[in-house]
Amino acid sequence: MANVAVIGAQWGDEGKGKVVDWLASRADVVVRFQGGHNAGHTLVVGNQTYKLSLLPSGLVRGKLGIIGNGVVVDPDALLAEIALVRSQGLTVTPETLRIADNAVLILPLHPAIDKAREAARGDHKIGTTGRGIGPAYEDKVARRAIRVADLAEPETLSAKLDELLLHYNALLQGLGVPTFSKDTLLDGLLKLAPQILPYAEPVWERLDELRRGGKRILFEGAQAVMLDVDHGTYPFVTSSNTVAATAASGSGVGPNAVGFVLGIAKAYTTRVGSGPFPTELHDDIGQLLGDRGNEYGVNTGRRRRCGWFDAAMVRQAIKVGGVQGIALTKLDILDGLTELKICTGYRINGTFSRHLPAAPGAQAAAVPEYETMAGWAESSRGARSWADLPAQAVKYVRRIEELVEAPVTLLSTSPERDDTIMVKDPFEG
Ligand code: IMP
Repeated sequence: MANVAVIGAQWGDEGKGKVVDWLASRADVVVRFQGGHNAGHTLVVGNQTYKLSLLPSGLVRGKLGIIGNGVVVDPDALLAEIALVRSQGLTVTPETLRIADNAVLILPLHPAIDKAREAARGDHKIGTTGRGIGPAYEDKVARRAIRVADLAEPETLSAKLDELLLHYNALLQGLGVPTFSKDTLLDGLLKLAPQILPYAEPVWERLDELRRGGKRILFEGAQAVMLDVDHGTYPFVTSSNTVAATAASGSGVGPNAVGFVLGIAKAYTTRVGSGPFPTELHDDIGQLLGDRGNEYGVNTGRRRRCGWFDAAMVRQAIKVGGVQGIALTKLDILDGLTELKICTGYRINGTFSRHLPAAPGAQAAAVPEYETMAGWAESSRGARSWADLPAQAVKYVRRIEELVEAPVTLLSTSPERDDTIMVKDPFEG
């Protein structure tokens, strides 16, 4: 029996929430391994809608949730999210949620610098969520971060804050925004310590035990491959590695423990924030996809940019992300369109390329080459078997499989959990 890792195969917001929820009901434990509360997953269960940012989605299904060392944890945001879902009737306790003691903390100075830097970039904004994700990861690799375990050694915090403030207050001052006082930050951390520490442990050890006990582990990715700090459309990316390999390093298991890698892709493309987007549509069809698909960010409410399915990009994401099967979502949003386009590669300064190159200038110059297919008039919404789908919709899915060089493992045809066609159970490996 395999474990499963779920990652986004485009620029995020592929409808991971529903697929992860569906898989979580088949798993014993759900692990977040990268990102932070920049993620946003909407889970609809019965008449309750849960909007999760940092908590592993399995908690909604009563499954053990683990926040791995690869995650950057904003303790205030975490406690607020716990309070919110508790008010919706969920149980979150140190028995149901464990946090890696070696995870990095996001402090109030991280969102402050994130926002100040974005403002200073003017027209060259990355379009970050402003939640301090990038600065927290910078501190981690610069070896000056404060981690969860540091809360258990309060006597060390003052010196650690000195080092952080030496760096940040100079930057904040230079950017013309208020600086931070050590006493305020220290007070905050000392108050948070007794609330966070009961959840902390070396999660690698628990994961090892769970694995040896034959438990099913679901690794829940956030963001997506094209936002990966190495493989994405740099610099318009997030600050973590979002590929499936990170499920191992971001939770403390070996690469062979990750199991089957499921990549989520929308039947069209969306992106929030700035950066290249070759198949973006600025016309009525782009508008229609956004309206019908309700393309607004869960966290930020920002309207997502919309465009045709980019098979060249998803193929690239599948290769570098290690994806073995795809879950195709929101096929029903294309219902009724007379014609559909799929991008098969790019013309870049006169030369054809089957992939998006690394250089930002070439990415920005990429003009999509399209294949055109007839659409379908019938409804695909709510289909639960291939036989329920319009024949032309099946052709569209089959063509996507060929172009991205990976099979469709799951097909989602509405936000309802059961409106899913399962071609293969990912937990069967
Ligand atoms: P950051 O992760 O806040 O630093 O933002 C960097 C880029 O990643 C921006 O373009 C964000 O819009 C994007 N981003 C971060 N989290 C998500 C997500 O969960 N879905 C989609 N885009 C995201």
